[in-house]
Amino acid sequence: MTSMLLINASPNPESSVTRDMTAHFSKLWLQANPGSEISSRDVGLNPPPHLDQGTIGAYYTPHDARTDDQKDQLELSDTIVEEVMDADVIVIGSPMHNFGISSGLKTWIDHLARVGVTFSYTENGPQGHLSGRKVYVLTARGGNYSKDSPATNMNIQEPYLRTLLGFLGLDDVQFINAEGVAGGMDGRDKALSDIATVITREAA
Ligand SMILES: Cc1cc2nc3c(=O)[nH]c(=O)nc-3n(C[C@H](O)[C@H](O)[C@H](O)COP(=O)(O)O)c2cc1C
Repeated sequence: MTSMLLINASPNPESSVTRDMTAHFSKLWLQANPGSEISSRDVGLNPPPHLDQGTIGAYYTPHDARTDDQKDQLELSDTIVEEVMDADVIVIGSPMHNFGISSGLKTWIDHLARVGVTFSYTENGPQGHLSGRKVYVLTARGGNYSKDSPATNMNIQEPYLRTLLGFLGLDDVQFINAEGVAGGMDGRDKALSDIATVITREAA
């Protein structure tokens, strides 16, 4: 049985393209993988708070030396880490905001990336602890950032997410992009069809 974690990061509860994509993905995924479990976290509508000095201090305090207050401060981060560790497949709906990711997705990452927990520094350099999981990133952008478009170098959403996820050991990452949605829904419709193709291919 596969366990999927679904992250929605659009602050828009209605008419969100990435929410259309994640809903389509999970529906087709369940059809192709009956009995799978899907859990979800909505960091668009309920964004994790910005890190503050107390939480950062708790991150860097050894586990056994943490005060009760520090343990409380880590509760959300611990839950976010546990949700990812419990998943075999992670699906992230990521709207492009200002050429990068939405702020709710960024604060989720800030609660997920923890030294000694989801990555460590070793003699051989940084080591991610989340390997062995497949990640699908479903993006939507107003403009077109595909490989041959003139704006492709302005897309810092995909390189940022690939770098960050890879740093945590998540190097099996597939992007499916809805391009140019400011000009109409052709990009969304193509992305929905790409999702079906990917899931059919992987179920075969
Ligand atoms: C605050 C904000 C910033 C945006 N920045 C960009 C951008 O830099 N480039 C772009 O192509 N589209 C940009 N867009 C358009 C969104 O990427 C597009 O509307 C997409 O559908 C958002 O995903 P959602 O519909 O799931 O919320 C922006 C939209 C918002 C609300």
